[in-house]
Amino acid sequence: MALRLTDPVYGESFVGMIKENLVFLREFLLEFKTTGACFPTSRWAAQALIAPLRETNRKPKNILELGPGTGSVTMPMLREMRDGDTLTICEINPRFMKLLRDRLGQNEDFRRHRDRVTFFEGPAQEIPLGVRYDMIVCALPFVNFDLNTVQEIFQRLREVSSAETLMTYYEYIGMRTFNGALAPADRAERIREVNDYLKRSGSINYLARERVWLNLLPVNIYTVNPTAKPTAA
Ligand SMILES: C[S@@+](CC[C@H](N)C(=O)[O-])C[C@H]1O[C@@H](n2cnc3c(N)ncnc32)[C@H](O)[C@@H]1O
Repeated sequence: MALRLTDPVYGESFVGMIKENLVFLREFLLEFKTTGACFPTSRWAAQALIAPLRETNRKPKNILELGPGTGSVTMPMLREMRDGDTLTICEINPRFMKLLRDRLGQNEDFRRHRDRVTFFEGPAQEIPLGVRYDMIVCALPFVNFDLNTVQEIFQRLREVSSAETLMTYYEYIGMRTFNGALAPADRAERIREVNDYLKRSGSINYLARERVWLNLLPVNIYTVNPTAKPTAA
């Protein structure tokens, strides 16, 4: 779908968008480690993250969104959702969760699906077991986490996924090279450990990759299957 800069964004005003950006920036300053970005994902990147939902003649899906922030991916996702789809929204930051709930309260697409949407305020590594998700849209800033946290998150994702689950996530283009070359030694070492683990866990053996240049920083959007088992170090 072609999107233009002048398109209204999910019925919200320009002032609403400015407010959203300011809230995001404030959280970036207050909660750098978990927020991980200074502005929300662009609508072009959001469309790439939810591509599996646009499949024609698909069956209803159980969808999990990790780290919705202010809802820049949640809104387009709700628009693409069909009858029978369910959505679980997991967010660790209570201020983001409150803002998101307030925004969704005024959103037509949310009202249409409200009975099939649940909220989990807490860390992704503690998502309740019991549901197998068909699709996971993940916006967690892995590069800011320690190895143990990343391992716990992937362990839980394996437990709530099946061999058919598709997970999309993004990574800033060039960020690995940048961190490897310019980050302070302890941060570079931590990122190297996390990247090694992700490589071994199969999660970056991606099934598809799409480059999106229209984002504050251009991103690669990866589609992976989170059930891939880690190989030995
Ligand atoms: C990079 S922001 C992405 C926000 C939004 N999805 C977007 O693309 O604009 C990362 C989000 O993940 C959330 N987050 C970070 N760690 C988390 C965790 N362990 N469990 C759940 N949410 C987490 C943050 O609070 C934030 O909302």
